[in-house]
Amino acid sequence: MSRAESIYLKDYKAPKFTVKTCDLVFELYEEHTQVTNLMSIERVDAGAKDLVLDSIDLELLEIYLDDEKLPEKRYVIEDEHLRVLDVGDAFKLIIINKIYPQLNSELEGLYKSGNIFCTQNEPEGFRRITPYLDRPDVMAVFKTTLVADKERYPVLLSNGNRESNFKLDDGRHGATWFDPHPKPSYLFALVAGDLGVVQDKFVTASGKYVRLYIYTDRGNESKCKHAMKALKDAMKWDEEVYGREYDLELYNIVAVDSFNMGAMENKGLNIFNSAYVLADEDSATDANFMGIQSVIAHEYFHNWTGNRITCRDWFQLTLKEGLTVFRDQCFSADLNSKEVQRIEDVDALRERQFVEDASPTAHPIQPDSYMAINNFYTATVYEKGAEVIRMLHTLLGEQKYRKAMDLYFDAFDGQAVRTDDFLWAISEAGGIDLEQFKRWYYQSGTPKLHVDEKFEDGKYSLTLTQKVPKAVDGSEQKPYFFPLKMALLDESGKEIEAKTLIVSKESEEFTFKVEKKPVLSINRDFSAPVIVEQSHNDYAFLMKHDTNSYVRYESAQSFGLQTIESMMRGKPIDEEFVNAFGHILDEDKLDHSFKALLMELPSVSAIMQRQEVVDFELIYEAKERLQKHLALTFKEKLLVIYNENHTPDSKELDALNIGKRAIKNRALKLLSALESDEVIAIANAQYNSSVTMTDRIVALDVLENISPEFSTVALGHFYKKYNRDTLVMNKYFSILAASHREGTLDRVMALQNDPAYNELVPNLVRSLIGVFARNYKHFHAKDGYGYKFVADKIIDIDKINPQMASGLAGAFKIYKKMNKVNKKLIKTELERILLEPSLSKNVYEIVSKVLN
Ligand code: PHE
Ligand code: ZN
Repeated sequence: MSRAESIYLKDYKAPKFTVKTCDLVFELYEEHTQVTNLMSIERVDAGAKDLVLDSIDLELLEIYLDDEKLPEKRYVIEDEHLRVLDVGDAFKLIIINKIYPQLNSELEGLYKSGNIFCTQNEPEGFRRITPYLDRPDVMAVFKTTLVADKERYPVLLSNGNRESNFKLDDGRHGATWFDPHPKPSYLFALVAGDLGVVQDKFVTASGKYVRLYIYTDRGNESKCKHAMKALKDAMKWDEEVYGREYDLELYNIVAVDSFNMGAMENKGLNIFNSAYVLADEDSATDANFMGIQSVIAHEYFHNWTGNRITCRDWFQLTLKEGLTVFRDQCFSADLNSKEVQRIEDVDALRERQFVEDASPTAHPIQPDSYMAINNFYTATVYEKGAEVIRMLHTLLGEQKYRKAMDLYFDAFDGQAVRTDDFLWAISEAGGIDLEQFKRWYYQSGTPKLHVDEKFEDGKYSLTLTQKVPKAVDGSEQKPYFFPLKMALLDESGKEIEAKTLIVSKESEEFTFKVEKKPVLSINRDFSAPVIVEQSHNDYAFLMKHDTNSYVRYESAQSFGLQTIESMMRGKPIDEEFVNAFGHILDEDKLDHSFKALLMELPSVSAIMQRQEVVDFELIYEAKERLQKHLALTFKEKLLVIYNENHTPDSKELDALNIGKRAIKNRALKLLSALESDEVIAIANAQYNSSVTMTDRIVALDVLENISPEFSTVALGHFYKKYNRDTLVMNKYFSILAASHREGTLDRVMALQNDPAYNELVPNLVRSLIGVFARNYKHFHAKDGYGYKFVADKIIDIDKINPQMASGLAGAFKIYKKMNKVNKKLIKTELERILLEPSLSKNVYEIVSKVLN
């Protein structure tokens, strides 16, 4: 059964026509919206006769060509196109059409989130608003007029600057906006609603005054402070680090509850998932605050890397996303802790991207084909894309990198370009040949780097062998070019030698003159996104002595993995690991947040990734046993750490207090393996006395997993207090969906009827169903009910919102690696999904690739 065609990069053709200006009028009513679209269009390809516009689910009312009403024989309505026959070289086209935003549950194009009209047009939403050349290499100047009921929608926004306001006699009013910067349709946005607003200002380096506004549902204004601060910090950072200033007089951000992704960088009018705007200490965790800072910055940085310079086509998505993620990671590292930020970014990459890269849905950061482009907003395009830019940054060094970025902006400002154009600028200003490096853009899968060491007669030699996986289609792929930061340490941990090797061959040897056998510290800062394969017993030493914090962390993780794996093979717990863990607990000069990371055991996903055939029951058994052993062995120390750092009345968001909460909660979670009355009492007291959401969530999570009795009371209290705050309810659903307790699936099913739950809101679906699908214990239960439930939900939700459904289907990406029993169960469910008669191409693409 083939229900979706693939689209190929090699088939790219330049547009045959272009749109110079686009004047839009939106008349917003309760049942429908009428769109009047006046475009001035020019022919670019002399051979083209018909104008073919993208158009999906639009009710056409009238078309005028150069002010003449177009007779029906002059146009054809095709499946997803409007074809205007035989047009001239330059002409004016007016299209009037009707849409139904109130019924739009896909959340693409114009839709309603609660009482707010808003848009989402990346990548291909605009064609659901009005017929258009809906592709990023067509850039027009937009003018937008909104007309709506004044009572219901006092706030009317679009891109650029406001030109005028007007009032109509019938209680409606209007506003006209003009954006002087030519842009592709995916950056178009409008908002209409009854919104509260928070206002601030920013003066740019060259002295221009920018007004900043954050709009949100009334009553939430006090929760916008952190977002506003992050915006100003980001504006300043981009001036200082990249020399880039903002280019409009106005910067608007609107927070909405129903949004498929995190946020969207529409020119001058960012639209955000409210989870990435709203926060105060009572309702948001420390991680939420960090997330807001980074997403606000990410969208702001897109103004230069994405909007001023955009993508020629969607295969180039990483041009803007990889680069912008790299920029936001550096921003967060500069404003917070560099070492902690790096470890967290690497962790996030490995948890999600490595799994994707090892699956049949693996793709290069620049894919060469897709069925549904929406499926390619992936960890690969974003996070691996950022790692690729980071490698370029490492290869060039800060100064040359900045020169290269300046050249990139100079050469391509105002254009829609390719990753090749970006690499040209890097190569030109960096004075570096990137031919081999480009493989990172068109090869997929995570390379392994095998390390062999030899020491003889004062000579240390390091043999590095790249093991490059085959592509998904079975074809061979070639060795990569990358920077590998490394150091050789003496027995006290001092660096004898530290440098950045350039690795480019399948196998090569590097030699060093040293007196004694050194200890190798490799892939420092995770300078290349590879899996290092190394067999040695220096982990305890590196955990303690490495001067590179990433390698310290990585060594703790690797040692933990090695220990758990040998337990899974039936060996007793390696006491050397236990000792090394004890040493970490004793170190008191470490930054709290960093120490909390060192105390973290490898995740279930990390363990799973190294198994040839996966059985989650075995993984959990070993990991839980190790955790319990550590908790028993170090109970007193962990209690001391807990008590020293537990300050229930403090809610400060500075590094010290965030760190204290992190380490204290890490200690509590480890201790929870004891399932003792003492630990239950501590968690219960923490829930009752703490003033931060961070502390409450950890306490609830611990209680939920070890004490049905206390968790029922605490969760009941929590629900009563927060059931009208949907962002907090996301956390409530997540705790229950992630629970390891018996009966979790039944409770998840029942929670779908909770009045606070709503299947139309992506955040809630992700919190309940999405989190359950990543609850390995219950999702992969051997009775198959977890799979069946999630498959049912994919089928249901696909009818509401295909993008959300294909996101859920991602949980099945590990299918191939599962043991026989689970594999058979998954197969049945995936085949059942494929039999659905009106399956979206989004879900079809993921499920068919996973099964293949
Ligand atoms: N371009 C957005 C970002 O990364 C992500 C996004 C994609 C949002 C598609 C909505 C839809 O910042
Ligand atoms: Zn982005």
